[in-house]
Amino acid sequence: MRHVLSIAIILLALCGIVVGIAGFRGRMSRRPPIEVFSDMDRQPKLRPQKPDAFFPNGVSSQLPVPGTVARSQPIQTLDGPVYPFEDSPVNTGLVTGTTNFAPADPLPVTMSLLRRGQARFDIYCAPCHGRLGDGNGITKKIGDMTAVADLHDARIVDMADGEIFNTITRGKGLMGAYGPLIPVRDRWAIIAYLRTLQLSWLGSTNDLTARERAALK
Ligand code: HEC
Repeated sequence: MRHVLSIAIILLALCGIVVGIAGFRGRMSRRPPIEVFSDMDRQPKLRPQKPDAFFPNGVSSQLPVPGTVARSQPIQTLDGPVYPFEDSPVNTGLVTGTTNFAPADPLPVTMSLLRRGQARFDIYCAPCHGRLGDGNGITKKIGDMTAVADLHDARIVDMADGEIFNTITRGKGLMGAYGPLIPVRDRWAIIAYLRTLQLSWLGSTNDLTARERAALK
């Protein structure tokens, strides 16, 4: 009988403790919460840019690990250094510091750039736009994509190079984004080649020298 009584008292006391703790959960209080497990709320750590005795030189921020490349530094490639994060027309297709499309290809247009552009165009653009750029690629023939832009359209001929760069990079309408697939330099190479394609359709005998015209007749 005495055992039953003491068990009952212990049980009651336990209930009291549980209700005493759990019953106050959710109540607003200015006092710190009872913390059974700290859940790593507080950890020893160094605050950035603060003096600290942990490192021999007394500051929490250490010099970058050797080999770290700052965003402003060039990355060396086979084509020479590139500045992938620089706010320049090569990377953005925009006039630096504005939201206006760059009017012209920022890369020097050389024969090797055009050859590169032709190869990339034939790989990435011709399936839809056709090797001539007239919108009659294989996807139209097999009925996969019925309305593909004709790149000889006067609107696209007059378009700033930066806007075409933007279309390649982000896509437009039904056309997907090719930025993740085509490095920036190749995008500009494609644009340079596209311009020669367009010119080849717009050219007339007036572009020839007198001698070349005579040779034609
Ligand atoms: C999968 C098919 C496909 C591929 C590949 C493709 N395009 Fe397109 N492109 C389209 C379609 C479809 C449109 C019409 C988009 C619209 O107006 O809805 C278009 C539109 C365009 C336009 C006109 C955008 C405008 O402002 O109206 C340009 C310029 C262009 N493409 C360039 C390119 C270049 C350069 C490439 C290669 C890097 C390329 N496209 C690859 C399907 C494609």
